[in-house]
Amino acid sequence: MERPYIFCHMQVSLDGKIMGKFMDLPESKGSGKLFYDLAFGEDAHYKHQGWISGRTTTDDNFTHYKVPVLDELAAEVPAGDFFVESEHDKYYISFDRSGKLGWEKNTITYGKTTATVLEVLTEKVSNSYKAFLRDLNIPYIICGDESIDLDMVLEKLSRDFNMDLVMLGGGGVINWSFIQAGLCDEISFVVSPTADGSTETASVFDAMAGLTNDDPVAFTVKAVEVREDNAVWMRYTVNNAR
Ligand SMILES: NC(=O)c1ccc[n+]([C@@H]2O[C@H](COP(=O)([O-])OP(=O)(O)OC[C@H]3O[C@@H](n4cnc5c(N)ncnc54)[C@H](OP(=O)(O)O)[C@@H]3O)[C@@H](O)[C@H]2O)c1
Repeated sequence: MERPYIFCHMQVSLDGKIMGKFMDLPESKGSGKLFYDLAFGEDAHYKHQGWISGRTTTDDNFTHYKVPVLDELAAEVPAGDFFVESEHDKYYISFDRSGKLGWEKNTITYGKTTATVLEVLTEKVSNSYKAFLRDLNIPYIICGDESIDLDMVLEKLSRDFNMDLVMLGGGGVINWSFIQAGLCDEISFVVSPTADGSTETASVFDAMAGLTNDDPVAFTVKAVEVREDNAVWMRYTVNNAR
């Protein structure tokens, strides 16, 4: 299968967390900046064409759990995927298997980066939600019947969007689904010299009942660098990548 190279890039606390109070400490700032610069900065190490995000990450950061207002009487949309011309050099690849996200426009802005939203849906998503996306000029690809077929997503990103480098950008649930499927090539963790010990917050990898299990996976060290402000950049290859 033709697919992009996938790297999982995350800012992580010393206790393996990806959100929470550790981020509020001034000692976390350096790792936050390094995280951004490596994948989104002007002289980025990873020059990717898009980043994949889980539905919770999108709601927490961009759509804020707004319920989309749908027209149940919308005319039947054409079958298949929906493409639009993008003005931006990156896509924000949003996993939304049921069509829940309350988008208000077809771009997101993260730091100095603006990206076109690309929704990844399944066949079970309603006609009215697809019509809602079309009204906002939000492109979508349909990958799978009830659950998202990860191979099909990557094949379409390669074939229809010419992507050869894609960031797997969290959270922990979506990261683990790609790793369990053998579809993540590299791990890039920017470790913050902070922790908060919370048992309530998302970890960098989280299995989710019905989606993934806890089959162990091994990694091989590629590089470790100590950077400014006690941030450590750790890279691994994923041993089960196929
Ligand atoms: N520190 C960092 O670098 C960083 C980076 C990214 C995110 N985060 C944080 O991580 C937190 C969220 O992480 P999380 O692990 O709870 O959630 P997540 O991975 O963002 O989202 C999980 C949801 O995404 C959908 N999903 C995931 N895998 C899927 C698959 N294989 N197929 C179809 N749908 C799939 C499911 O939603 P549905 O069932 O509703 O469709 C699932 O419940 C956020 O607070 C965010 O800010 C931190």
